[in-house]
Amino acid sequence: MKIARFSRIGFIMAAAGSAVGLGNIWKFPYITGEYGGGAFVLIYLVTVLLIGFSIMIAEMLIGYLGRADTVSSFENLAPTRKHLWKFGGFQSLAGLFVMIYYSVVIGWIFHYIVSALFGLPSSVDEAKTVFSTMLHSDFKTQLFYHTLSFLIVTFVIARGIKGGIEKLNMVLMPMLFIIVGVMFLYATTLDGFHKAVEFMFKPDFSKINSTAFVTAVGHAFFTLSLGMGSIMTYSASLEKNANLVKSSIIVVILDTAIALFAGLMLFTFLYEYGGQPSSGPGLVFISLPSVFYQMGMLGNIFAVMFFVSLAFAGLTSAVSLVEPMVQYFIDRFSWGRKKASVMTSLFFYIVGIVAILSHIDGYSSYLTWGSRNFFDWADFLTAAFMLPVGGLIMSVFVGYVLPKSQVEKVLRPQLGRTFEVWYFSLRYIAPVSLVIVMLNLVGVL
Ligand code: PHE
Repeated sequence: MKIARFSRIGFIMAAAGSAVGLGNIWKFPYITGEYGGGAFVLIYLVTVLLIGFSIMIAEMLIGYLGRADTVSSFENLAPTRKHLWKFGGFQSLAGLFVMIYYSVVIGWIFHYIVSALFGLPSSVDEAKTVFSTMLHSDFKTQLFYHTLSFLIVTFVIARGIKGGIEKLNMVLMPMLFIIVGVMFLYATTLDGFHKAVEFMFKPDFSKINSTAFVTAVGHAFFTLSLGMGSIMTYSASLEKNANLVKSSIIVVILDTAIALFAGLMLFTFLYEYGGQPSSGPGLVFISLPSVFYQMGMLGNIFAVMFFVSLAFAGLTSAVSLVEPMVQYFIDRFSWGRKKASVMTSLFFYIVGIVAILSHIDGYSSYLTWGSRNFFDWADFLTAAFMLPVGGLIMSVFVGYVLPKSQVEKVLRPQLGRTFEVWYFSLRYIAPVSLVIVMLNLVGVL
C-alpha cells in the first residue's frame, strides 16, 4: 500500500480525534444521566481499563502489522484460512452505518451554532419546542446541514492522510481541548460543581440493570473508536518504530478525560441553573441551550463555543468512520482516492436522509420498527452489537490466531513485564465479557 505516513504527533492527534467525538460530549453525559450517574460511570471506566485498553492495543497491532486496509490486513496476517479471516476486516462497514446518524447529528450541531449566534431559547419548554420542531418537521434544515457535513467529510478524506486527515486533527483537536478546558475551569468555580462530582462519582447500583450494563460496555467501545476498523486503518500508516502502547495510553487518557470533563461541566451547569441530569438525547440540545440563556451574555458566548467544540469533535471522528472503507476501495479495487471518498460518502449521505425522514411527521410511522425508528436502530445496532462483535473478532484473532511469537516481538519491548497481563486480558477477560454483553443484548432486544 503506497500511502503517506502520519507524523508521530499526527497519529496521536488523529487517533485521539477519532476517539473524542459526539460519544464523549453528547452521548456520555446523557446516558450517564439516564442510568443514574456514579455506578454507570464506574462500569464504563472499568470496561475502558480492562477491555477497551487491551483491544485498542490489539487493533493497533493488526493495522501496524497488516499495513493495509482492514480486509487485506486480516488476510495478510491470518496464518491459515485467509479467505475466512478477511471477513473480520468488514467490521469497517460499521463505521459507515454509524455515519448514517452521526452525520445527521453533526448537522444539528451546525444548525445550533448558527442559531446560538442569534439568540437562545429562554426556557426548557421553549428549547424543547425548538428542538422537536427541527426534528419532526424541519426536513429542509436537517438536509441542508447533513449535506454540509457530508461535503466537509468528503473533502477532507479526498485530500488524503497527510494533507487532509492529519491536518484537520492537528488544527481542530488542540482547539477542542482549549475550549473544553476553559469551560470546565469556569464550571469548577460554580456551586453546582460539587453536586456534579457527587452525581458522577457516587455509585448507586440500584440503577444498574442489564440494559445499563450493555450500554456502558457498548459505550466504552464506541468512545474509544474500537471494533470498526478506524484505529486499525490509521495504524496502517504508522511509522515502523512506532510505540503502540504509548499511543494507546495517551488516546485512552485523553478520551476519558474529555468525557469526564464534559460530563462534569454539563452537570454543573444543569445543577447551577436548575436543569435535570436525565433528559436523554436532547440533553445538549434542549436543557443546555436554556441553561446558557440564563447565564446572560456569557451564556451566548459559551453556547457558540460549546457547539463549535462539539462540531470539531464530531468531524474528526466522522473522518475516521469513513476512511476505513475508502482505504478498502483504494487498496482492493485500485480506485483513486477522490472517487473512493465520494462513492463511500454517498452511501451514508443517502441513507442518512432516510434517518432524517424517520423523525419527520408523516414518514416516521413507515420507518419505525418496534420501539425504535430507523435513526435509533442505526445507533443501537452499531454501538451495542457491531462494535462488540468487531472487538470479539480482534481479541480472538490477536489472542489465538496470530502466533504468540509474532505478537510478542512487537509488544514485549513496549509492554515489558505487563505483556502477560495484557495477553491474558485479551485472551480471557475481553472475549468472556463481550460474550456476556451479547447474551445480555438478546434480553435487551
Ligand atoms: N469514538 C467516537 C465518539 O466517541 C465515535 C467513533 C466510533 C469513531 C468508532 C470511530 C469509530 O464519538
